Amino acid sequence: MDALILDATSKTANVQRIPIPEPGPTELLVHVEAVALNPVDALYTFNPLGQTGRVVGTDFAGTVAALGSDVPSLNPTLKAGQRVAGFLQGACSANDRPGAFANYLIVPHDLVWRVQDSLSLAEAASVSLTALTAAQGLFPRLGLPAPFAYDVKPSTKSTEESLTAFIYGASTSVGLNATQLLQLAAKAHGMTLHLIGAASPSRHAMLSAAPYSFTSLVDYRDEAWPAQVRALTNGAGVDIGYDCISEGPSVAAVASTLSSAGRMAVVRSRAGKAWAAEPGTLPTEPVYGAVWEGLGERVEYQGFIVQPSAPARAFAVEFYKWLSKVGGSELLPNPIRKMPGGLERIVPDGFKLLGPGSMEQRGGESTEEWMRPVSGEKLVYEI
Ligand SMILES: NC(=O)c1ccc[n+]([C@@H]2O[C@H](COP(=O)([O-])OP(=O)(O)OC[C@H]3O[C@@H](n4cnc5c(N)ncnc54)[C@H](OP(=O)(O)O)[C@@H]3O)[C@@H](O)[C@H]2O)c1
Repeated sequence: MDALILDATSKTANVQRIPIPEPGPTELLVHVEAVALNPVDALYTFNPLGQTGRVVGTDFAGTVAALGSDVPSLNPTLKAGQRVAGFLQGACSANDRPGAFANYLIVPHDLVWRVQDSLSLAEAASVSLTALTAAQGLFPRLGLPAPFAYDVKPSTKSTEESLTAFIYGASTSVGLNATQLLQLAAKAHGMTLHLIGAASPSRHAMLSAAPYSFTSLVDYRDEAWPAQVRALTNGAGVDIGYDCISEGPSVAAVASTLSSAGRMAVVRSRAGKAWAAEPGTLPTEPVYGAVWEGLGERVEYQGFIVQPSAPARAFAVEFYKWLSKVGGSELLPNPIRKMPGGLERIVPDGFKLLGPGSMEQRGGESTEEWMRPVSGEKLVYEI
């Protein structure tokens, strides 16, 4: 099969022919038909942690090609030919499991979700990683009540009847998913939601409309936005802040919008050095976690190790069970941009658009229509 393989020396990835993998007893072999790009895919291709020969890439959708020997008894409803989506840790890892950008991949049978007929595989490919990231941030980490049941107890518990939440980077893929999840959680628990977002004015009309339905929006390029957010809460501050950028000054600025009991989550770690604020200098310490926790494996990432976590994996399993029912009907995929070409165009086009690290480093000096900057959408390749 063809796969996009990391060349750590040249800091790039190339399409190569490798053997089709064999599923283990509890795994599925998936025929991949669409993949979606995440910033982390480009980050760890351009800044590799070693491991030349590793298949890169995270988000995928496709059809079940074969089931491991134990899968029929573990999951009797899962059949060959069914459409599924999920994600793998293809960027970097302390283990040597391959990523997703290939014709075939293997994945644990319970870490995929069933793609309903209403969704194309290209749309489904865009969902798994950022939706789980948003769900982890809001529910187990910030303690908001989820719109689905799960056994893991959140570290803090929220019992608000009304909630004021602020999403910085509201048009990011993580932000669009977090917004929808907050709306669904509010609906499920009868919570009144006052939702404030920061995004480019060009995205405000989209974000004001369903399914996002922001109450108020500010422009993150206007330096006065933290004061504007506080003013929108009559000076009280927001209960929840979710910084979907977490670079440079954004973390401290989002922290300045919190109420005295407010809490916030970030998407990039202090250890990763995307943002700098000494511990103790913010009104509250932001909660961080990597989406890889959901895989339940040991993963090397941003200079630290994500340890295997059974509760985090159990949460991912429950989330994907829920997504199998509501994906495409209640939780909608982000708008997608279908990119031309297949695996061979991912590095020169897709990774160029995502850049080697920060939002500021993103590329796009090109006249082709598909090379415009990423804004409120997901890059998808059909392969
Ligand atoms: N912790 C985890 O496990 C985890 C998981 C997934 C992603 N992440 C991280 O989360 C971040 C977002 O990922 P993503 O895939 O959602 O990104 P994305 O969709 O590619 O982000 C593009 C968006 O970023 C917005 N943006 C760019 N610079 C901004 C700034 N300075 N302030 C506010 N918004 C800005 C743009 O908004 P406008 O178009 O409105 O200008 C654009 O819509 C990345 O750093 C990613 O690595 C972390």
